[in-house]
Amino acid sequence: MSDRHMMAGEDLQVWAYRLEAKSPMDVLVTAVENYAGGLVLASSFGAEDVVLIDMLHKLAPTIPVFYLDTSKHFAETYATRDRLQERYGSTFIQVLPELTLEQQAKMHGDRLWERDPNLCCEIRKVEPLRRVLSQYQAWITGIRREQAPTRAHAKKVEWDEKFNLVKFNPLADWTDAQVWEYIHAHDVPYNPLHDRNYPSIGCSVCTRTVMPGEHPRSGRWAGQEKTECGLHK
Ligand code: ADX
Repeated sequence: MSDRHMMAGEDLQVWAYRLEAKSPMDVLVTAVENYAGGLVLASSFGAEDVVLIDMLHKLAPTIPVFYLDTSKHFAETYATRDRLQERYGSTFIQVLPELTLEQQAKMHGDRLWERDPNLCCEIRKVEPLRRVLSQYQAWITGIRREQAPTRAHAKKVEWDEKFNLVKFNPLADWTDAQVWEYIHAHDVPYNPLHDRNYPSIGCSVCTRTVMPGEHPRSGRWAGQEKTECGLHK
């Protein structure tokens, strides 16, 4: 069994049990202590991710941060990336799809996201994620249990069966209010779209505003059956 698979199975469940009562910073400390060198943070520059960028910068500024650049993010998302890079003196790793938007249009037709959003996400997010994660032993994400039923059972550390590596979710039990409390208390740069009724932000072509009382993720792939793009099970 390779190192990569050492923590799979029961050991990881015990570890998750121990980490359950720990704070996000403590979870990050554990991740860094055990996986430094093979650890990476995935960021879409959403509210959770900027919290994790700030925490990780304070704890271990050399841990790399990557973003899946679909080439279809909002201008505000790219501007948030730039403000964060400036604030933390970091360069985030840009992970691009194999196909440019032009190549994708030639192969699969124009505006694939409207006709087959699953294929579009596969090409522009999931395949690039698989490629980047194959270089690491563990990744850190900003998913939270209250975000969606599909995330309700996320552990603070778990085995990611889809991508075959350890997955840390330090904010798993945080509420939306705790995320925003942290952002304001530490004056962390955040995506201004969050102040304009975009609680969850993906590609500009597949994200709309959310009305009061609607589910925070209802603006993602609105009007489609889809609720997840395939990065998380
Ligand atoms: S998604 O699967 O629906 O797009 P969501 O936007 O809720 O995910 O973000 C959940 C977590 O997935 C983020 O905290 C981040 O760790 C990771 N993630 C989502 N989108 C990206 C992206 N474009 N690049 C890197 N990581 C991402």
